[in-house]
Amino acid sequence: MSQPLVLNTVADLRSRLALWRQARQTVALVPTMGALHAGHVSLAKAARGRADRCIVSIFVNPTQFSANEDFGSYPRSFAADCERLGIGGVDAVFAPDAAQMYPAGFCTAISLEGPAKAGLEDRFRPTHFSGVATVVTKLLIQTMPDLAIFGEKDFQQLAVIRRVVRDLDLPVEIPGGPTLREADGLAMSSRNVYLSADERRTAPLLHRVLNEVASQIQGGTRADEALASGRTVIEGGGFVLDYLELRDADTLGTVQAGRPGRLLVAAKLGRTRLIDNIAVSSGGGDWT
Ligand code: PAF
Repeated sequence: MSQPLVLNTVADLRSRLALWRQARQTVALVPTMGALHAGHVSLAKAARGRADRCIVSIFVNPTQFSANEDFGSYPRSFAADCERLGIGGVDAVFAPDAAQMYPAGFCTAISLEGPAKAGLEDRFRPTHFSGVATVVTKLLIQTMPDLAIFGEKDFQQLAVIRRVVRDLDLPVEIPGGPTLREADGLAMSSRNVYLSADERRTAPLLHRVLNEVASQIQGGTRADEALASGRTVIEGGGFVLDYLELRDADTLGTVQAGRPGRLLVAAKLGRTRLIDNIAVSSGGGDWT
């Protein structure tokens, strides 16, 4: 196992990319905020399998956190992250600091409609996706990769980024990587470290409810009834529910006949906000 090369500036990133491009090598990017877990490593391995070179970016992006969120306490574990990525066969880690990404006088941001205004995360984090879209667009322009992989765990984020890439004609493919789960179904997340032992035991309820609601809908129960009973179970389990919704899997708008759906949930358990989602079909009929 060799440690990935660490690049801290856009100039160093571009010099390394130029060498790889001269050798006609393809490049995949995996944008992250660090505190890496097996889910991130699986994205890096998928990237490595689809391109000659793989870069993972690690940057805790201040502009996607609002004032009451956990930017200051977001878990940071750079040395351990690099070690994991070495095992995952990653070639380079791009780890800029805030001054590199947002130099003095920085005043540009991407403003969004479409999936970013679907009334899911944006109802609770109104400035979040503008921060995500701005930093991801910068990372894509800095790296100009052939593909960039994002986890399906942040499903609305994936939809927003795909829309930005289409709208701005960025020449990059955006595959999604499946959500990795703990043995009891809890979706892997860097924020799971915030859960107390009791909360950790309760947390898999979210995934159980998603599965139960999906199987009810696929079995012919009306979606609004299945969702209402799912909401009751989540709230009864000690969560403060932000949303449990059924949406079109592509646009995140209302489900459409003959098109795949997605069930999405966000809920707080103590001080930890958890999100998750799964695919759902209408069970052969129309959505009801
Ligand atoms: O999903 C994340 O870790 C972040 O939102 C991303 C895409 C790296 C942008 O900061």
